Amino acid sequence: MTGRKQADQIDAPQWPVPPGTSGCIILGAGGHARVVLDALLAQSRWSRFVFLDRDPALRGRMISGAPVAGDDDDLVHAGRNGFTHFIVGIGGIGDNAPRLALFEKGLAAGLEPATALHPAARLAASSVIGDGTAVLAGVVVNPDATIGRNVVLNTGCIVEHDCRIGDHAQVSPGAIVLGGVSVGRLAYIGAGAVLIQGVRIGEGAVIGAGAVVLADVPDGARAVGVPAMCTPRRR
Ligand SMILES: CC(C)(COP(=O)(O)OP(=O)(O)OC[C@H]1O[C@@H](n2cnc3c(N)ncnc32)[C@H](O)[C@@H]1OP(=O)(O)O)[C@@H](O)C(=O)NCCC(=O)NCCS
Repeated sequence: MTGRKQADQIDAPQWPVPPGTSGCIILGAGGHARVVLDALLAQSRWSRFVFLDRDPALRGRMISGAPVAGDDDDLVHAGRNGFTHFIVGIGGIGDNAPRLALFEKGLAAGLEPATALHPAARLAASSVIGDGTAVLAGVVVNPDATIGRNVVLNTGCIVEHDCRIGDHAQVSPGAIVLGGVSVGRLAYIGAGAVLIQGVRIGEGAVIGAGAVVLADVPDGARAVGVPAMCTPRRR
């Protein structure tokens, strides 16, 4: 970001939360952020939403009815504008580190992580969902599954019984995580992948779209194909 903004520029009319109501900040204003907003709106918990995004071209734009009010450096102004919660709204294919950095920035600003639970998701009573996690439409989480903080369970994925999904991980649309699987923190599971029961996916590992994973995948590894094979990462 070039040049700090003055506080009066940040106090755009749409930015403060009306007294007596609560507001939630969505970090990122792209496609995934709009899906997260859709889930949050369905919860009817917050009265005001703003996006913060690093793309200066988006600043001041209305997206799905909410303004892009600045970038993540503006988190420091959130409290005095009446915002109490934030959620990470960026996706990031194969790399969850930027999501982790934004989550820590939101916490450092003194905000509470908002948890997005779309009403069309089906969560077993004994499942545990961490703070700041987004559970999107059509997701199924079965008994005794434990989902960490700042996780994305994307549209229509299935997390079976007794799974453990680590903090900041992402499970992409339509992926199927069978019983007792462990997914490490910061791991990325591609769309439509199938993780066979009991496998362990290491920290920061990347599973390609459509992969069928039959064996453990080490920390930081990248596995693609049917059956999934570990191949060197190019980035
Ligand atoms: C695995 C992935 C992250 C790409 O990783 P990458 O290291 O950048 O891989 P590249 O695109 O450079 O491809 C490297 C090789 O892997 C192959 N490959 C990439 N993704 C693959 C996949 N999902 N299945 C099989 N092979 C794949 C490429 O064809 C290429 O093969 P080659 O070396 O023979 O040419 C990506 O392809 C993927 O599957 N992303 C998931 C997308 C998704 O689920 N999005 C959901 C958004 S909500």
